Amino acid sequence: MSLDFAPEQFQQLLQQASDILLTWYAHIGKGKTYPNASPEEIQAVFDEALPMTSQNPADLLQTIAHKVFQYSNKNIYPHYYGYITGGGNQAAILAEMLRNGLNQNNLKWHSAPANTEIEKIVLRWIAEMVGYSSDAGGVLTSGGAFANFLALAVARKIKSPINIAEEGLYACPPMTIYVSEEGHSSVDKAVDMLGLGKKYLRKIPVNQDFEIDTNALEKQIVADKQAGLLPICVVGIVGTTNTGASDDLEALANLCEKYDLWFHIDAAYGGFVAALESYKYQFKGMEKADSMIINPHKWLYVPFESACVYVKNRNHLKQTYSLIPSYLQLDIGNDSRTDLMEYNLQLTKDFKALKIWMTLKTYGVKQLTEAIEQDILKAKYLASKIEESADFELLAPVPMSIVCFRYVGNKEKKKEDIVFYNHLNQQILREIEKDGRVFLAGTQIKGKTALRVCCINHRRTYEDIDYLFEVLREIGQKVAIHA
Ligand SMILES: Cc1ncc(COP(=O)(O)O)c(C=O)c1O
Repeated sequence: MSLDFAPEQFQQLLQQASDILLTWYAHIGKGKTYPNASPEEIQAVFDEALPMTSQNPADLLQTIAHKVFQYSNKNIYPHYYGYITGGGNQAAILAEMLRNGLNQNNLKWHSAPANTEIEKIVLRWIAEMVGYSSDAGGVLTSGGAFANFLALAVARKIKSPINIAEEGLYACPPMTIYVSEEGHSSVDKAVDMLGLGKKYLRKIPVNQDFEIDTNALEKQIVADKQAGLLPICVVGIVGTTNTGASDDLEALANLCEKYDLWFHIDAAYGGFVAALESYKYQFKGMEKADSMIINPHKWLYVPFESACVYVKNRNHLKQTYSLIPSYLQLDIGNDSRTDLMEYNLQLTKDFKALKIWMTLKTYGVKQLTEAIEQDILKAKYLASKIEESADFELLAPVPMSIVCFRYVGNKEKKKEDIVFYNHLNQQILREIEKDGRVFLAGTQIKGKTALRVCCINHRRTYEDIDYLFEVLREIGQKVAIHA
């Protein structure tokens, strides 16, 4: 028995699915960006008994068109500013559909030949684009959190004084890792999961621009060594999640060389800015990192999921992840074949590379970097509107495309009352969600509740930024009346 449809039926269903997509794209920017339905309402729509018999797929596509799309965030809309969400691109959608048809499993070269070579090529292209070593070993994985984990596992293995694969960590002195206070929570999780202990993750203070204080970092490394601990790794950041700040990579590289530490860079969000001619100089030192991660699913506009993990010495990556049981033994005459499973914790893995290949080839680096630069300019435009306004204030510099600010009503009559403004802006965030015209998330900047806008969407115009500003002002005024 085959589960396949008859060719004519499959053709009709493909047409129906593309019509749904065309309608979706035709509606961009219209209606609400956030559905604002309750969990109970959405559960009531989807909570059905396990389907035991077949159903008409055309009807199911209708359900997707009406219900799944209705209750999903409009991430591709220019009014969506939440988290770090790149808005996707149409060329990648085509690749995604086709790769699902191909259904490749790229654990070994011979289980996915074209897939393996395309993954190697896109990794090389991205390294070249941002100025990292194009000879580095690399793999694609799901996202930045898993990529940080994979890279830090390599750092731990290579820098530990014993063979931890055999011995575990039991015979090691505590190993310390350093990241700024603005480091992403996935670094904390990785340190925890790797058995290193979160108290040995040193959170180093930042300067007024939210960049790591390298003097404080060096003092901490020296103090840890004197205390008998084993410093192994410094994590530098290119584009922090909160504000988009980047650490001084050259200074971090020098410190790592001086103290023989592994230098890892978390460029999950901001890495692609290094591909812009006029911004490149800010990331000097990136090429010296022992490992780096960068997410095409953030600022390369590739749909979720995809992240690149690079390790400069590819043998270090292989040394960490290569384990070949009899059922995965190498096939004969494979000298020039790369089995990606030897460079990754994952075995079975989907063909993530195709959507990245399609994105890079369709648009080219020139168009993609222009879009990235436009995002930065629009974020800076919003920042200048905030600075010139009488009722909003900026809470952090805007080096990339993240803008953190808060509503204060009247700057001239502003009170010295953090609690009052925190409460006010939390209410505003709730009201933004209820309203649904725009979507953004909040954060805390030095104890102050901030409205946080992340501006990475190639469909956005300056008029969209004006619209955002007007909606936020309207909501701010409405909430302030009752504050
Ligand atoms: C700096 C940084 N690192 C890591 C991550 C985690 O990436 P992901 O959400 O793709 O797992 C993020 C996510 O925003 C990030 O901003």
